[in-house]
Order: sequence, then C-alpha cells, then structure tokens
Amino acid sequence: MTKIASQSYFQDVCDAAVAALETLGVVVTAADLATSFEAPNKKGFGDAALPCFPFARQLKMPPPKIAEKVAEAFHAPPAVVKVAPISGFLNIWYDPGIVASEVLPSIQEAQHRYGASDEGAGKTVCMDYSHPNIAKPFGVGHLRSTVIGNSLKRTLEHRGYSTVGINHLGDWGTQFGKLIAAFREWGDEDELLREPIKHLYSLYVRVHQEAESDPSWDDRGRQEFKKLEDGDPANRELWQRFRDLSLREFGRVYQRLGVAFESDAGEAFYESKLSSLIERLTKEGHAIEGDDGALVIPMPDTEEEPPLLLRKADGATTYATRDLAAAEYRFTTYEFYRCLYIVGSAQALHFKQLFTALKQIGYEWAERMRHIEFGWVKFADSMMSTRQGNIIFLNDVLSEAVDKTRSIIAERNPDLDDPENVAEQVGVGAIVFWMVSVKRQKDVNFDWDEVLSFDGRTGPYLQYTHARVGSLIARYGKQIPTSSVDYKTLSTEEERQLLLQLADWPRRLSQAIQFYEPQILASALLDMAQAYNRFYQNVRILDGDQSAVEARIVLADSLRIVLNSGLYLLGMGAPSRM
Ligand code: ARG
Repeated sequence: MTKIASQSYFQDVCDAAVAALETLGVVVTAADLATSFEAPNKKGFGDAALPCFPFARQLKMPPPKIAEKVAEAFHAPPAVVKVAPISGFLNIWYDPGIVASEVLPSIQEAQHRYGASDEGAGKTVCMDYSHPNIAKPFGVGHLRSTVIGNSLKRTLEHRGYSTVGINHLGDWGTQFGKLIAAFREWGDEDELLREPIKHLYSLYVRVHQEAESDPSWDDRGRQEFKKLEDGDPANRELWQRFRDLSLREFGRVYQRLGVAFESDAGEAFYESKLSSLIERLTKEGHAIEGDDGALVIPMPDTEEEPPLLLRKADGATTYATRDLAAAEYRFTTYEFYRCLYIVGSAQALHFKQLFTALKQIGYEWAERMRHIEFGWVKFADSMMSTRQGNIIFLNDVLSEAVDKTRSIIAERNPDLDDPENVAEQVGVGAIVFWMVSVKRQKDVNFDWDEVLSFDGRTGPYLQYTHARVGSLIARYGKQIPTSSVDYKTLSTEEERQLLLQLADWPRRLSQAIQFYEPQILASALLDMAQAYNRFYQNVRILDGDQSAVEARIVLADSLRIVLNSGLYLLGMGAPSRM
C-alpha cells in the first residue's frame, strides 16, 4: 500500500479504511482518503470522520448505509478504540496514549522538520506572486499576493519541492512613455532619490490629469514610449532608474516580510521575445488578424471567452502577449511541474484565456498552470481608504501596525527586552496573519483593532501563545525528557484535544498544498493554540506526579515546536517573549 502519512498510526487507519472499502468493491488509495478526513463537528462524535458520500454514486447506496458497511468491515488498528457510522461518516475514536507515544517523540526528534517530507523531490514549482507595478505604490492586492505566495513557497519547500519565486513586475507599457515625458517636465532629482515611488506616482497622477484637458500629452507619451522601445539610450536609462529605485523601495517591504525572489524578470524582460513569438504563432495559424487590424488568438468558445489579444491595431503588444512569452520562457528554463499565478480573481478571465491559448498552441504542459486566485481587501476604517481607493504606501501601513503594537506592548509588558524587535515581528506578523487567515477566495476585511488583538483569532494571539509556552518550559527548568516517558498519563480531555491537533499537522500541510491554501495552516494553528490555552487554564501542568508532569511538558514543548515552525510557514516571526 502507498505510504501517505508520516505517522504510522494514521497510515494504519487509512489502510484499514482502504481495505474496508475494498470489500464493498470501491478502489481508492490511502493517499486519497488521507486528505479527506474531517474533524467531527460535534462533541462526543469522536476524533476523526471519514465522509462516505463520495462513494454513493458508484455504489448506488445512500451514504449512511455505506458508512454502516464500512464500519462493519473495518479492522481497527491498535490506535483506534472505536468506530461508528454517524450520518454518512465513519467516525473514529483514538487511544490517546498510543497516538501520543508515536507522535510526541517524532515531533521532539524532527523539531521544526515535523511534517516535512520529500514528496516534492525533483519537482519545480514556478510561483508568480507579488508583482507590483513599478513607479506606483504597492496595491493591497499585491500585498495579499505577496503574503499568500510567500507562505505557499515556504510550505512547498517544507515538502521537498524546489520553488522559483518570480516577481513579474509591471515594468512595461505605454504609461512609461507618459511618465518619462512628465519627469522631463516636472521631475525633481532630490525628490526622486528621497521618495521615488511617491514622487513618480504624483507625476503619474498629474500627467493623467493634464492629459484630460491637453491631448498633446498623449502624443508626447506615445513618442517617448516609441523611443524607449527602440532603445533610445536616454529614455532607456531613465526607465532603468525608475525600475531600480522602485525595486529598492519594494525591497524594504520585502525585507520586513521576509520575502525573497529567485527572479525579478518582469514584463519588460519578454519584450525582445515578442516579435518572434507573434511571427511563429501567425505562421502556425494560431493567431489571426481580424477586420479591425488586431491580431488575436481565437478561443474555442467565444461566448465564454473573448479572443486573446496579441497585438492591437496600432501595433502595440499587450499584457497577455507578454504572459504568453513568459509562460514559454518559464517552461523552457525551469521545466516546471506547476506554474502558479497568485493573482486576484479580477484577472480570472485573463488566465483562463492564457491557459486556453497555450493548450491551443499544443503545449501539453498547459495543464500544469494554475491561477491561484484571491478576493478583495477591504478596509473598515478610513486610515487607508482615504488615500485614493485601493492605493496604499505599504511601508507606512507596516510602520503603523508596528507603532500600534509598540504601545500595546508598553502597556502590557513594560519590562520587555528589545521591545523594538518584538513590536516589528508582532506588528508585521499581525498584518500577514490577517491576510492568510481568510480563505483565499473570500474578501478580507481589515480592521486595526481586530488585526492587532492579542485575544481573538489573530496573529498576535498565536505569537503570544508561542511565547507563553516558552515561559512555561523555562519555569520547568529541566531538559525536555526524551525517553521512557509514560504517555498513558495523558488522559484529560484538554490533553487529548491538544495531542490530536498536533498529530493532525502533517495532514493539514498536505491539504494546504493540495488546495494551495495557507488558511488551512492558519486555522489549524489557531485551533492548536486554543487547545493549548484550555489545557494551560484547566490542568496544573507542572504540579503533581512526576511521570504525569513529564508527559505534559513534552506535550507542551511539542506545541511550541509546531507553532514555531507553523509561524515560519505562514511568513511570521516567533518572538520568544512578548
Ligand atoms: N502587475 C500585474 C498587476 O498589478 C500583476 C501581474 C500578475 N502576473 C502575471 N504573470 N500576469 O495587475
């Protein structure tokens, strides 16, 4: 049978379920079953539940009946004390002592590698994320892309994949002609060096306003862009400076977020590859010229998807042309197993067209592309929405979060060492967490008080729990026992809940990768932290019988390890005190 789980108790459960289903004539793999287990939604319904409705069609049987038959045929492995069919699910009760004696030592041994695997060995995943537009402020959508991309990247690496982070910068297009013209007219060298993006953005806004009453700006912009395209040295140099300065400013934000890219090949990078691409597609008959003089790749179902525009009637190429070239380039360069585009759902149609076009051209690898879409970011208070719609100066937002955190910390823990560093990790972490704690497809609502709360389902709450376990371990004051611990003593409901959360972590990592969804990790970590806090409140961890204390301290320390590595995978810091 295929090996799917790092823990053998769970492997045994999956194998037993596979065998039970086999007696009904259903053929599934343990790996398929592994990710479909759910947490029972009611108290008293056990520790895990396998949904049986996916088999109803094949068996022509109602799910409750299937669950009954599976329960009858299920040969319970040692870690399982009971199974029962409950409304279409096979529910399972574990023996906590047996689960603990396998899981806790494996966490202690693996440390931050707990839940890691080599399932991705030999597979390269290209990740197109962040991708702001140069000379403009980072949009909130770019922030969400950056945060989701960074977390997925770390998670994929944890599972043995090689990743190529690509910052597909918006650094090409006719707007740069206008910007060059505007800079020649009103630009200020000192301003440019001091606050490049603010300066360039104000020029951008100004030239667009002027152009409304004075159309000659459009011509000037076109001319300057033409010169830029033709390699005019002065324009080229100016463009290069805008790009370098923008990247330097974005770099400050990336550093605070712990984000790094393998490549910052943006749209301009593909410029030189476009004419041969267009020529080839035309020759092969994939691209056709319409009556209006534009060159397009027609889509099979025009109702659903309009044709993909390769070249406008005036000869200009498009965002889509550059994406087509980028996809080809990435496949030839990296031979990716997956190419992920972490971009808001507003661009769903664009990626649909892009993938269809690649399929039409005949690339079998077109099916390896995925649009990892996400919803909008909204603001409850005015702090950011006053600044022209969705425009934010991200560094200011991060600093605002850090300032607010600094004052919260000063109030709660005035004697803290190195409060500056802690405020940075907590303030930035709060924003990061807020963005990954919501399912990708949903909108995120941003409300400072909620984001920075130490008690809600927030980033600071996770970090605070992590720091609190650290203090508990310090109070214990001895080495974490590694051998001859009697895990049978872990018998309270609080201990059992925490233990099962920790045991489930590797499976949650698999799910996060399967769905490209960091929220799965965020929510698992919150559940663990809550389970720990209940344990901490209701069980006197360090008191009483020594063997019970030892088992509990290993349990607590194992939570610390998983929280620490989980925070890293989400893209957050884990201060040891706060
Ligand atoms: N720069 C684009 C924007 O701000 C996003 C780029 C997404 N990536 C891509 N390969 N199209 O909308």
